[in-house]
Amino acid sequence: MVCLGNICRSPLAEGLLRSKVGQTVETDSAGTAAYHEGEAPDPRSIKIGRKYGVNISDLRGRQFVSEDFDRFDKIYVMDESNYQNVLKLARNEEDESKVDYILNEVYPGKNLSVPDPYYGGDQGFEDMYIMLDAATDKIVLKLQDGRI
Ligand code: 4NP
Repeated sequence: MVCLGNICRSPLAEGLLRSKVGQTVETDSAGTAAYHEGEAPDPRSIKIGRKYGVNISDLRGRQFVSEDFDRFDKIYVMDESNYQNVLKLARNEEDESKVDYILNEVYPGKNLSVPDPYYGGDQGFEDMYIMLDAATDKIVLKLQDGRI
């Protein structure tokens, strides 16, 4: 799961998926920027997760690196800027083929973004939660029937 800072959207996406798949799948998240390396998620993301029973307080920010393409079968990005920045680090077509917008799991082929809630109010975090909950449900279904 990849966003810009790895403190708002992608940790919640990771936490949601982790809460749904347990230890059966390796999940992680990263930011395209390094601003928040080593930091816990934004308190507002921790709070919205906690409200719905998803604990993300243990997660720590890190920057996405090319080697992530070796570790993961699927790289989900939150928005178009993340998409472009991750693709810049792809080394070959196989790497590129692993990258997709997370909301394409709910709205296939539309390349919609999960808006960055960082500079907004609490409603942005609620909206983000609803989008990521729906997307991770779809990812679980794909994992269950072998489409990932
Ligand atoms: P995220 O949100 O990409 O969902 O983690 C942001 C967090 C921090 C910043 C930007 C976006 N920032 O500019 O510090």
